[in-house]
Amino acid sequence: MTYNVFTAFTDRQKELFEENYMDHLYRRNGEINLDACQLSARERFFEELEANPVRRHGPSVVEQEVFERNAARRYPEPSLDEATLWALAMTKSNRLESYGIKYALSCLNQKVREPNDPLTYIELEENYHTRVLKNALEVVGLEMRLLPPPPTTRFLLKSMVRLPKAVTNTMILCTEVAGVGAFSMLRDKAHELFDDQPEPLQRLDEWFQQILVDEVCHVNYARSQLGPIRLKIAQAMLPAVAHGFINDMPEYKLLFGEKLMDRILAADVASVVADYNDKFLPAYN
Ligand SMILES: [Fe+2]
Ligand SMILES: [Fe+2]
Repeated sequence: MTYNVFTAFTDRQKELFEENYMDHLYRRNGEINLDACQLSARERFFEELEANPVRRHGPSVVEQEVFERNAARRYPEPSLDEATLWALAMTKSNRLESYGIKYALSCLNQKVREPNDPLTYIELEENYHTRVLKNALEVVGLEMRLLPPPPTTRFLLKSMVRLPKAVTNTMILCTEVAGVGAFSMLRDKAHELFDDQPEPLQRLDEWFQQILVDEVCHVNYARSQLGPIRLKIAQAMLPAVAHGFINDMPEYKLLFGEKLMDRILAADVASVVADYNDKFLPAYN
């Protein structure tokens, strides 16, 4: 199943998408508790996995001290190995997501939001992603601390929450596409780096699956909110928006070079989740 995320849905496709997506969100997330920012099915999922932690054994692949020291730096120290750069990219991505979503949720309380609005679910899903990334780092033996992202990223994230939806929807589509690209590269890199221990690798994959299945849906939801003209605008904006965020996380460039931007710009989000059994399958395909 491939599709171009910058192609507009027809009216009929949009109708089907909205119906199917809402069903998917109920099934995947269960009951919503807005005050506690909780989704019942997610809570069960996390409780189960967190009660049965899987950790890599043997000598640590990343030193906690080196990780912490570099996590506080804008640019990492020279000559760090790939596993350390991977961990740093994970924690810096988490900062970005966490800052953006905490800001969005703090603004959400002042607005009226219907519990059956897909956006309410999407924002709570994003909130769980910070827990996913923290758990994923624990698999490789690292404890992470949430620091604020750099000023440019903070400004971009705040603008996305504050500006009118008509303006920000194009940008949101870009960030969701960039997110799928970045997290899929991190997942693939984890397979490359940690395949010597199958069980921890499988757990890492489960955590990535949680994020990627959600994010691909977010891409399609953002797409469903835009007509053909604004989709073209989004496509044109994608390189600049992706650079805006990635430039604040130099570990990505050090790990992947130009390949990351190539993957983001290809925007082939369907293939990223092709092997996952809980991916969203809309009826219109
Ligand atoms: Fe996310
Ligand atoms: Fe997302």
